[in-house]
Amino acid sequence: MGIELKKIGVIGAGQMGSGIAHVCALAGFDVMLSDISMDRIESGLASINGNMARQVQKGQISEADRDGALGRLSAAPDIDMLADVDMVIESAVENEQIKRKIFSQLCPILKPEAILATNTSSISITRLAASTDRPERFIGIHFMNPVPIMELVELVRGIATEDETFELAKGFVRKVGKKMAVAEDFPAFMVNRILLPMINEAIYTLYEGVGSVESIDTAMKLGANHPMGPLQLADFIGLDTCLSIMQVLYEGLADSKYRPCPLLVKYVEAGWLGRKTQRGFYDYRGDVPVPTR
Ligand SMILES: NC(=O)c1ccc[n+]([C@@H]2O[C@H](COP(=O)([O-])OP(=O)(O)OC[C@H]3O[C@@H](n4cnc5c(N)ncnc54)[C@H](O)[C@@H]3O)[C@@H](O)[C@H]2O)c1
Repeated sequence: MGIELKKIGVIGAGQMGSGIAHVCALAGFDVMLSDISMDRIESGLASINGNMARQVQKGQISEADRDGALGRLSAAPDIDMLADVDMVIESAVENEQIKRKIFSQLCPILKPEAILATNTSSISITRLAASTDRPERFIGIHFMNPVPIMELVELVRGIATEDETFELAKGFVRKVGKKMAVAEDFPAFMVNRILLPMINEAIYTLYEGVGSVESIDTAMKLGANHPMGPLQLADFIGLDTCLSIMQVLYEGLADSKYRPCPLLVKYVEAGWLGRKTQRGFYDYRGDVPVPTR
């Protein structure tokens, strides 16, 4: 069932979905961006516009590249509008039930040969694939944040993923100009299996009063040469996403060392999700971020 990837559907127009749509459109794919409301799609398109304008300003892309890419991007407020895409990349919230529901709506309308990919940070590719009508054409294509800047994509095959799907995904990753690392299908794969326990530990360090937000971030920037502190990074990823990944690690590996820090749980319960809600371990409402503890 050969297919050439020309038209890509992206589901979820948040920070990751809009970034994925951005790099796909710049790489020459036609892209349809979908979300639960036209408002969210418009806000995703506005951030793509802003980010491409910055790339033009920095001389990374030409105005013609930008105009061409924007011309290849369109909104799909109704999921049925994705009927003729060659591949869908699902990048909605990190919640298995929501992702399954999206696949159940999507599968009946997609071409049988279309590829289904997910940008999940942690959830089992095999399990998600099994909820679809095409586990052999299902794969994890895990981009990093911010997508236009970060070089890596993790590719994760489910147990049923066919070689053809894997080869198509590899070609796609090369075409969007990214490097790939292949991970086995274990909870949180490679990058987040290593990164999230460190972030969770930084939150425990704060929770237990070992240091303030600022001192923990300074310690890791200057003491471990990290480009940004772990709490700043948590805000950047989104605290809801961090919590979901820790829960997947905790449940999937059944080891208490992955227990999500109660302070992380509390921040998410408060709706303090980091940069995207203007408040997390830092408050972003002013000119400069101010630590909240
Ligand atoms: N934030 C990161 O650093 C990062 C990195 C790599 C992968 N991811 C993964 O990418 C995915 C998206 O994360 P994000 O950071 O962009 O989150 P986000 O909160 O910025 O965006 C999520 C988007 O999904 C939309 N959505 C929710 N339910 C939906 C539905 N039923 N149908 C369509 N859209 C729906 C929301 O309206 C929102 O616009 C998650 O699976 C996450 O784990 C995140």
